[in-house]
Amino acid sequence: MTKLTSYFATVVFIFIHILCQSSASGDETTTSTYNVLEFEAKSNGVTDSTQAFLNAWSVACGSSADSTEIYVPKGRYLLAAMAFKGDCKSSHITFRIDGTLVASPDYRVLGQANNWLSFEGVSGVTIVGGALDAKGSALWACKLSTKTTSCPDGATTLSFTNSKDIRVEGLMSLNSQMFHIVINGCQDVLIQGVKVIAAGNSPNTDGIHVQLSRNVAIFDTSIKTGDDCVSIGPGTKDLWMERISCGPGHGISIGSLAKDLEEEGVQNVTLKNAIFKGTTNGLRIKSWARPSTGFVQGVRFLDVEMIKVQNPIVIDQNYCPHNLNCPGQVSGVKVSDVLYQNIRGTSATAVAIKFDCSAANPCSGVKLENVNLTCRNQVVQSYCTNVNGKSVGTVQPSSCL
Ligand SMILES: *[C@@H]1O[C@H](CO)[C@@H](O)[C@H](O)[C@H]1NC(C)=O
Ligand SMILES: *[C@@H]1O[C@H](CO)[C@@H](O)[C@H](O)[C@H]1NC(C)=O
Repeated sequence: MTKLTSYFATVVFIFIHILCQSSASGDETTTSTYNVLEFEAKSNGVTDSTQAFLNAWSVACGSSADSTEIYVPKGRYLLAAMAFKGDCKSSHITFRIDGTLVASPDYRVLGQANNWLSFEGVSGVTIVGGALDAKGSALWACKLSTKTTSCPDGATTLSFTNSKDIRVEGLMSLNSQMFHIVINGCQDVLIQGVKVIAAGNSPNTDGIHVQLSRNVAIFDTSIKTGDDCVSIGPGTKDLWMERISCGPGHGISIGSLAKDLEEEGVQNVTLKNAIFKGTTNGLRIKSWARPSTGFVQGVRFLDVEMIKVQNPIVIDQNYCPHNLNCPGQVSGVKVSDVLYQNIRGTSATAVAIKFDCSAANPCSGVKLENVNLTCRNQVVQSYCTNVNGKSVGTVQPSSCL
């Protein structure tokens, strides 16, 4: 080839290259993938891979690609407590997990940490698949034992703090030491197709806890645990939960509220299409009998089936264990606009509906619509104090509103 034809060929090549790139566009995004094995993670379940995961995160986070993926192949990866921190240069980071992340079988390794896997100040993070095995049962045994008095609190398995645009899909969380998943100070979060599994007697193992967060949605999620299925703390706004299965556990709970005097309210919460099997509570709103600036406004519980649930519908504003630290013994939390629609099934106790509201701030706008709760061999009852509202359609037990 002469110099000229070679020059010409190069120009043509570049031209075609540009053409191909623009024809492949529409989404001109580039994705870079990082396999944790390339960072010397070991999939044998016994070699600590914490630093390898942190290194993969640091490269993905600093990447100038539009989106980055951290890939975790099949196998077991031993990880200590670790934080994945923003801000990141890459605007979308996906953890694609085919393997299982495991904690040390010695609960003291994680026991003093607040969180095991903690995402802080991130945006555009997605977790797809994966199992998280926190091996919490030895810590539960410590806490349940009457002999030992000094057990660590334990770590939350997966937490997102001060983050936005978060997705968690198809993840399984097993045997957390404390809460399984915590969403704290976040905005625009989607949790879908998640499974939580822990023993029915495991202490403080809430499935998903949400607080100080806006626009969180939870779909198609099954939670079997020893504490609340979903717990909803102060400052939760625009929470949507759909197709949720709970049990064993303590059910879905708004609260406990009024823990603090200065507290943000809970606003606009919807639960649609849920089943509770053998839980201690079904749909619960709970506040301490203490002064507080908190409130609960706008809650819809729609299309719910109860199977042998001890307290299917309950508002308890007189929570004050051992009558300690409850000056005045009334709750400052005002509960209003709560709808229970199409709630059916069986109660394990005679009192299937209990509204025990604050004398200082009676519940208002409580509505029961088509509720049918029965109890084997017993006439079911409802109980009301300090509550205003109405019932519509068939309501059994007969409403005390
Ligand atoms: C309530 O929250 C849902 C999302 O869960 C949102 O679509 C809706 O607009 C919110 N309603 C109000 C009145 O803010
Ligand atoms: C309530 O549920 C019971 C048990 O499923 C059923 O036998 C009864 O007919 C229902 N009542 C109404 C009014 O739907």
